[in-house]
Order: sequence, then C-alpha cells, then structure tokens
Amino acid sequence: MGFYHFLNDFHFSGGQFREAAELGDPGTDQWVGTFRGKKVHGVFLLASDSTTVIDAEWAAVNQLFGSSITELYTLSAEARPGDQAGHEHFGFLDGISQPAINGFTANPAPGQSIVAPGRVLLGRDGDERMLGRPSWAKDGSFLVFRQLKQLVPEFNKFLRDNPLLLPGLTPEQGSELLGARMVGRWKSGAPVDLAPVFDDPTLAQDPMRNNNFDFSYPGEDLASNQTRCPFSAHIRKTAPRADFRSGNPEHHIVRAGIPYDPEGIGF
Ligand code: HEM
Repeated sequence: MGFYHFLNDFHFSGGQFREAAELGDPGTDQWVGTFRGKKVHGVFLLASDSTTVIDAEWAAVNQLFGSSITELYTLSAEARPGDQAGHEHFGFLDGISQPAINGFTANPAPGQSIVAPGRVLLGRDGDERMLGRPSWAKDGSFLVFRQLKQLVPEFNKFLRDNPLLLPGLTPEQGSELLGARMVGRWKSGAPVDLAPVFDDPTLAQDPMRNNNFDFSYPGEDLASNQTRCPFSAHIRKTAPRADFRSGNPEHHIVRAGIPYDPEGIGF
C-alpha cells in the first residue's frame, strides 16, 4: 500500500513463508496456489447475513482503494444449514470457548479465561510491546488466516472402524465417544471433561456450565489423569487450562472459523 511501519512483532514481520515449516504443513506446495511464492499484504474479512450486503461492502472497499490494491484470491464461506448451523464440517459445535477481554466482555461466563486487553488489542494494558508500536495500530490486532481442508468421510470412517468398546455402549455410541475424545467435546458441544461417557445436550446449551471445567478434579493427579479428557484432545492441546496454569503464561487466541464449500462438496 505504499507505506511500511514496524509493528514490533517478529512473527508478523517475518511474513508467511519464514515459519511455514513450523506449522507442520507438508510443505507449501500443498497451500492454495495464490499463497505460494507471492507475498499477500492484506486480508479483508466481510461477514453478513446477506450476500447483497457483502457485495455492496466489497464494491465500497474497491472504490476506496482503487488501483492501489490487487485482488489475488476470494474465498466464500457460509454457516451450515438447519440444525448444523454453528457446527463445523465434522459436525462439532464450534465457537463456544473464547477468552473474555477484561473491560470489553460484559459478563464473562463461568470457566471463561479473563485476559488483559493488551493480550489481544495492540497498545492496551497487557501489550508487552506497546512502546514499539506505531500509534495508528492502537486497538488493532494480528490476524492469522488459515484455510484448512477437512476430510469428512475419512474422519467418519475412522470413527466407525475404531469404536471405543466400553461396557454398555453400542458400536455407534463407541464411535461417537471416540470422536468426542478426539475433540474434547461432543458434537453437541458438551465437554467430555463434564460428560465423559454419554453426550449431554442440555449441558451443551447451557453457557453457565458448558465451559466451566479445567480438567482438574480434587484428589486426582492432573499430570496423569486423562480418564475424562485425553491430553491429545483438540481442546486440551490448544487450551490446556489447569495443566499449564502453575507458572506458565497463558496464551489465548480469539477464534472465528467458518465452513467453506457447499454441503456435500469436498467432504
Ligand atoms: C479444521 C480444523 C479445526 C477444527 C475442525 C476445529 C474444531 C474445533 C472445535 C469443534 C472446538 C470446540 C469448540 C469450542 O471450544 O469453541 C475447537 C476449539 C478450539 N480450537 Fe479448533 N479446530 C480446528 C483448528 C484449530 C486450529 C488450527 C487452532 C489453533 C491455531 C485451533 C484452536 C482452538 C482453540 C484455542 C479452541 C478452544 C479451546 C478451549 O478454550 O477449550 N483450532 N476447535
């Protein structure tokens, strides 16, 4: 865009290629073509209930920036239909656990981590590199954009082929349980830490309870106990809660994921 400012962030200024290997991707040749070999300077995220609004906003963006930007790539995405709205393509409810931003989130729910505003917003209390940021960056944040492909039939086949054979469970229930233990939540959103063997859709829908857990139980050894939620569960790996709490700084991200591709295509 014709200007450059140092934002005092090592990862950001390194660009998308320097740390590509650390993401665990099998090389950048698997990346969407546009992101290979070209430096992408910006991402516009447009969200609305109506495509007309999106089209109008995009026209306004183009009018504003004119020929100073070149559009490299567009990805359209939308919430899944019917009772799958809010669920990602494997069928799991998403968007339940987010950090509460101190001073910005009105009523943090039980179990929700409360973080200093500067953990997310530049130039606010808790931003450890506040002094090195340009003033225009205040209240901005760093966006990580990742496009991931989900192999849904393969995932479902793996669950069907490997049901957890607990006494009293049908093979179908055993497969559902395996999926829940891989994610750390049932498809309904209920956490396995609170509903370890059977789904509990009422718990899943209750914001006062569905995030109120930290994998610890009095009298049980946190360092070895994975009877309810395995250490390898997606939510326990990405947010270890009590596992990491003593003496470790907590790292939080605000997540916004949306399924792309129409239903039935590519999965
Ligand atoms: C296609 C890939 C992915 C799928 C299907 C997926 C799915 C999910 C689901 C179903 C949840 C539980 C809902 C919730 O707690 O809000 C979740 C939570 C989470 N995911 Fe992912 N995820 C994916 C990739 C990622 C990646 C790449 C990251 C990190 C860079 C990530 C970080 C998190 C975090 C931090 C949580 C919240 C954990 C917590 O606070 O308990 N996820 N994800």
